[in-house]
Amino acid sequence: MSTVLEAKSINKYFEKPTRFHVLKDINFKIEKGEFVSIMGKSGCGKSTLLYILSTMDTEYEGALLLNNEIISGQSSNHLSYIRNKHIGFVFQFHYLLADFTVLENIMLPAKKLGEKSLVEIEQDAYDKLKLLKIEHLALKKASQVSGGEKQRVAIARALINNPSIIMGDEPTGNLDSHNADNVFTIFRELCDKQHLSLLIVTHDEDFAKRTDRIIQMEDGRIIS
Ligand SMILES: Nc1ncnc2c1ncn2[C@@H]1O[C@H](COP(=O)(O)OP(=O)(O)O)[C@@H](O)[C@H]1O
Ligand SMILES: [Mg+2]
Repeated sequence: MSTVLEAKSINKYFEKPTRFHVLKDINFKIEKGEFVSIMGKSGCGKSTLLYILSTMDTEYEGALLLNNEIISGQSSNHLSYIRNKHIGFVFQFHYLLADFTVLENIMLPAKKLGEKSLVEIEQDAYDKLKLLKIEHLALKKASQVSGGEKQRVAIARALINNPSIIMGDEPTGNLDSHNADNVFTIFRELCDKQHLSLLIVTHDEDFAKRTDRIIQMEDGRIIS
C-alpha cells in the first residue's frame, strides 16, 4: 500500500479573539484507495483540519505529506499547483458558476492547470460526466440542474485533474437522503474501481459507518 496523505503532529492555534488551541497533536495517514470519514461534534475542529490538509491554510505547526512529499512550508504558488493537481474538493454547497454550462464548470480546474489542450480537456470532462451518469446535462447552464445533479457536477469537477485524493466538508449536508445515498455510492465506486482515496467530513452516521474507517474528533483531538 502507498500513503497518499499524512499528518504529523499538527497543532494549530487561533490568536483572536483570544489564543485558542484548536487542533491538538493530529496524526494519521490515508492510504491509496482508502475511504475515510471524519466525525465529531460541531466546533471540534473538522473544517479547520480540512483547510490545513487541503493546503489552503498554512498557519500551523507540524508536517503534512502528500504522496510522501513534504508540503508544509512550500511557496504559495507551488501549493496552489499541488492543490489543483492532486486534491479534489467537494463542499456542502457546490460553488458552481451559475451562468456557465455544466461542461464548462467541469473543465475549469483543468484549464487552470494548463497541462492539456482544450480538446483533450473537453474529452476528459465528458469522460467524468459519463462516469457520473450525467452526460445529458453537459450543455445545460449550472443554474438549470437540480440540487442532487449539481453535487454530481461538483464531484465531476473535483475529478477532472485525476487527483490523488478527494476531500469533502459535509458534501451530503445539504442533500435529501436519496441524493445523499447517490453521492455515497459514487464515492464508494470511485474508491473501489479507481482506487481513489477519499477523506470526507460528515455528520451522517449511516454514511460514516459505510466508509472503511472513521476518524473521531473531540475538542481538537483525534480520539479514535
Ligand atoms: N477564524 C477563526 N478564528 C477563531 N476561531 C475560529 C476560527 N474558525 C473557527 N474557529 C473556532 O474553532 C473551532 C473549530 O471550528 P471548525 O473547525 O469550524 O469546527 P467544525 O468544522 O468541527 O464544526 C470552533 O470553536 C470555532 O468557533
Ligand atoms: Mg465544519
